[in-house]
Amino acid sequence: MSSNNSSDLSDLQIRDAKYIWHPYTQHATAKTPLPIVKGKGALLFDENGNEYIDGVASWWTNTLGHSHPYIAEKVYAQMLDLEHLIFAGFTHKPAVDLAERLMKHLPDNQAKVFFSDNGSTAVEIGVKMAIQYFHNKDINRKKLITFENAFHGETFGAMSASGDLGLNNAYSEHLFEVIRIPEPYKGQEEKSAQALEKAIAENNAYAFLFEPLIQGASGMNMYAPAALDRLLGICKDNGVLTIADEVMTGFYRTGRFFACDYLENKPDIMTLAKGLTAGALPLSITTCTQDIFDAFLSNDKHKTLFHGHSFTGNPTGCACALASLDILEREETIQDIERICTRHAEFKAHIEKHPKAKDVRQQGTIVAVEFLTSTETSYFNDLRDKLYYFFLENGVLLRPLGNVIYVLPPYCMTDAQLKKIYGLIERALDEIA
Ligand SMILES: Cc1ncc(COP(=O)(O)O)c(C=O)c1O
Repeated sequence: MSSNNSSDLSDLQIRDAKYIWHPYTQHATAKTPLPIVKGKGALLFDENGNEYIDGVASWWTNTLGHSHPYIAEKVYAQMLDLEHLIFAGFTHKPAVDLAERLMKHLPDNQAKVFFSDNGSTAVEIGVKMAIQYFHNKDINRKKLITFENAFHGETFGAMSASGDLGLNNAYSEHLFEVIRIPEPYKGQEEKSAQALEKAIAENNAYAFLFEPLIQGASGMNMYAPAALDRLLGICKDNGVLTIADEVMTGFYRTGRFFACDYLENKPDIMTLAKGLTAGALPLSITTCTQDIFDAFLSNDKHKTLFHGHSFTGNPTGCACALASLDILEREETIQDIERICTRHAEFKAHIEKHPKAKDVRQQGTIVAVEFLTSTETSYFNDLRDKLYYFFLENGVLLRPLGNVIYVLPPYCMTDAQLKKIYGLIERALDEIA
């Protein structure tokens, strides 16, 4: 178990503490990180053989279970053939195969894929594509429109595009200005649509960037496809590009392959990461329409998209994503996804009457319970740490977003594992809220 008592620490924990700075961690107060030595299916095992159910799919990445042997084999085989290659001026089969395979799943207006290696940079690239699309056509467009409580990542563009969740206070003066509109949550669809129309009328907007159907980091806040469709329609009518950030929602997380599969209007640009490789290797993709790609074609070299990371198009990552697609496309995987959606729906129906549950929401394989607290719902709610350690002590990894607890499992999670998580959430509502 995590501890702050130095005599209880393992050798690995002592060595970790000497040099390592962990993400999203306040090292002054956080308990020592838990060393994990093995992952199998939905389970993680620590140094002492204790097991933990991974209820957050290792930061929303893991779709098919840990250390999947089929994925490991394909990655190993690729590494023996060609582990990495500069992707400017060269190409390779895994990248071409992956682009072709993804096209079959993407909305039919998507025509090109651009590789990078994490969700934040996929967003940066999408925003850069939109800015330069207009620049290359000599059209003056200045502003990005986003949702008030959006989260798009941690690079400067992604932080600028994200809402004020309290995570970026130190950098706020250094971020570029965006126009924020309210999310079209139930009951405020009209307000959101009007705000978008006003934002477009008053600003020279190049794009509207959004998390489709679920605002993840802000607390798994959900809104209906029809409301988003209306916003996309407004953008299309006004020549504003639309960017769907599917970094969290892609690869069946919402019950369909992409969240955008619930929409009539299709986005111009999409960003994919996390589940792209089943969570096994870092790889991300930004896709766009032919029209956007064509705006970069010119004899003038300045019209090039000057973007490319060292690991752009990494063959091992592409082979991993192809292996993931092999499994995702199997009938039994679809059945598992449907099973999890059904179990979540049953749990939601059961728990939503609990007096300490302020709200229970579900979209596909994600179910979230907002705990009733005396303080405001926020990422910094005091309940967060109590809940986090309560679940960990009981063998379950859940990472509350403030007072919102959610389950976002690998699709191989068994009914028994789900039942254990649901039972613990109910106990937490009874005993901790
Ligand atoms: C919607 C969304 N976009 C972008 C990101 C950033 O992805 P990454 O952490 O891979 O940079 C995240 C991460 O949680 C996300 O949820």
